[in-house]
This record gives sequence, C-alpha cells and structure tokens, in this order.
Amino acid sequence: MKSVGDKVQQFINANLNTDLHSLLLKKSPFPDVSMQEIVQQIKGKHVAQKKFPFLLKDGIIFPPQLNLEQSSSDKTAVYKSKILEGKKFIDLTSGFGIDAYYLSENFDDITLVEQNPELLQTVEHNWTVLGKKAKFINQKLESFLSENTEDFDVVYLDPARRDHQKNKVFLLEDLSPNILEIQEKLLSVSQQVVIKLSPLIDLKYLVSVLKNISRIDIIALKNDVKEIVVFLSKENSESIQCHCINLESGESDFQFQFGDEENASAEYAGPEKFIYIPNNTLLKAGIFNLISEKFNLKKLHPNSHIYTSNIRIDSFPGRIFEMEVIDGKQIKKKGQFNIISKNYPLKPEEIKKKYGLKDGGNDYLIFTQSKKGKLILKSV
Ligand SMILES: C[S@@+](CC[C@H](N)C(=O)[O-])C[C@H]1O[C@@H](n2cnc3c(N)ncnc32)[C@H](O)[C@@H]1O
Repeated sequence: MKSVGDKVQQFINANLNTDLHSLLLKKSPFPDVSMQEIVQQIKGKHVAQKKFPFLLKDGIIFPPQLNLEQSSSDKTAVYKSKILEGKKFIDLTSGFGIDAYYLSENFDDITLVEQNPELLQTVEHNWTVLGKKAKFINQKLESFLSENTEDFDVVYLDPARRDHQKNKVFLLEDLSPNILEIQEKLLSVSQQVVIKLSPLIDLKYLVSVLKNISRIDIIALKNDVKEIVVFLSKENSESIQCHCINLESGESDFQFQFGDEENASAEYAGPEKFIYIPNNTLLKAGIFNLISEKFNLKKLHPNSHIYTSNIRIDSFPGRIFEMEVIDGKQIKKKGQFNIISKNYPLKPEEIKKKYGLKDGGNDYLIFTQSKKGKLILKSV
C-alpha cells in the first residue's frame, strides 16, 4: 500500500473493532485496495496502540505483521534517545524505524539504511506524514559500508534473528547482520556503535567476542528484561560500565563495572527480618555476590539469589518483604497468596495444588532454600 485515501482511512477507522476473519471474507469496497491490505492496516493500528501510539495518526501506513513484530516499542526507544547525542546519526537496520525515530532526536543529520525496499518506502512515507527528515538508503548495509566515505557520531543496529529455533545458544553469528564480521568496519566510521540485542544473550560471551565495549545497558520494562544494549567506542575504554535500568517501576537503577562480580564475595545466613529479591536486570547481569557486598545483605543460598537483613534498605533495586519463617502445616487451605518459588523443587502451580491455595491478594509466600535446607517464608 503506497498511501491511504480519505475514504479508505474512514473505512479502516470504522472497522477497528470488527472481527478480522469475517472482514477478510468480504469484498473490498475499493477497486484499488484489497481487503488484505485493509486488514494489515487494522492489525497495524492494534499493534501501534500497545507498542508505538505516536503512529496512531491518519495517513500512517503499517507494514506486514513480521515487520511490526520486529520493531521496538517506543518506551525503550525513548530511554535510549536520552543517552545519545551528536551531529550525525545512522541506523543501519532501520526496519519500521521506531528506534530511529526516537534515537535520532538529538541529531541534525539522520540516515536510515534498510534492505527491504517496501518497508523503507513505508517508513519514508510515514516520516513525511510526521514531518521528520532523513536520508533513506535501500541497500544491504554491508555494501553501503563498503562504499561509504562519511563519518558518524553514532551508528545504531538492531539486528534481526536469522531463525527462531528455541533452546539454542544465542550467538551473534545467528543475527543479520553478523556483527562479528563488521565490527571493525563499524568502528572505523563512527565514534560510537550502539547495538540492540536480545535479553537472551550472555554478557560474558559478548565481552569475549566484541571489541572496544565501553558500556552495556540491561533494560527492563516493569521488571521484564526487554533489551541488552551494547556500546562500542572508537577509543578503547579501560572498563565496561554496566547499567541495570527498570523503566516504569519507579525503582532505583544500579550501576557496576563489568568484572566487579569476580572480585566480590557474598556472606551467607538464614532468613532475617527483611527478605530482598533483586530486579531481573540485576539477575540477568549475574552479579549475585556483588549485590550482597554493595547492599550489605546476606545471601540465603548460593543458588537462591534471595537476600536478607535485619535492616530495611529502601534504595535496593528490587522487592523488599518483611517475612517470617513458617512450617508447611501452618498454611491454611484456600488461603490467597502471591507465590514465589526460587531454588525450590516445586513450581508455583504445583505449590498451589499441594496446599490448595488461591492466587493473588496482598500476602506473599516464598518457597526457597537456605544453606540449612528447604524454607517457607510468609509476609507479615
Ligand atoms: C529487528 S529489525 C529493526 C527494527 C527497528 N529497530 C525498529 O525499531 O523498527 C531488523 C531490520 O534489519 C534489516 N536487515 C537485516 N540485515 C540487514 C542487512 N544486512 N542490511 C540491511 N538491512 C538489514 C531487516 O530487513 C529488518 O528490517
């Protein structure tokens, strides 16, 4: 679809809540726009409501489902836009251009490279509707880089997964483009290279295969880790600064230097008055001993990643509970609890069944282990 006329737009807006299967069976009322194209636009608006509401404007065109799924959400893009600035920005894997739209906010000169011609045309059309200017280059980034003579302040990449095989070790070679093959070229054309990666990627692996890493951000939205963003710098930096960020939670962020964990050690103890569960960004970072050392907390067990203290530390980046140890026999049948199971043989569903519990409410039960054995904690 190249543009949306007024009548087609009205039809799309009037059918936002219509069942799409039955709509697809009907004949399009427009001779030059098929029902498939109309349904693609309705689906696009549905995705935009959740992921990028700034595109809920008449005249905006949405690409096929796969391109919508691959595009970033505006929330993480807004965060990244605040930490990047300079004159010249280039996104070498533009996709639907959500990241590029936000990340280029503090730049004067913007270039988007994308191999898919229809997708790039759609982005160019939308950016015209939005009044945002850029150069749009429809090329494979490898050939773009081999011809390019310009220097940039920031090069951004959000590589696509080549395959969707689950349970497979996540490697940079599985991405398009393969960052390992182009990393030197990228550093030769830009002061800073910023790469968005899946939360499944292992940080130690990243540090072992990428050159000149200066910073790694682990970004979560309401405690759900969404992205790992790695920053490469032209000048080799001596240390790697890591940032754990939890957007829309109001909780503190946490920063450390990669390698701090190797020099940290944890103290162990049984449960005290307060129980601490770190945010998922810190767990993803694997800084289990560092958490104990930095916040002066004791760990319950090497594999539990639950911490304890008699003091309440409000700045802790995670959840804090006041709890007491209970015996399984003290759990009342049909009680309502939020159940947390960590390093415990039963999953929350199995625990619910075993004790006949209901989900929810304001009370918590934690099933875990200390060094002395299995343990049940109840909020007080
Ligand atoms: C995950 S999507 C990017 C989404 C984008 N960040 C957004 O916010 O909408 C990756 C994009 O990179 C493009 N791509 C992958 N390999 C490429 C290559 N070698 N050259 C140019 N584009 C490439 C794909 O066509 C795809 O559109």
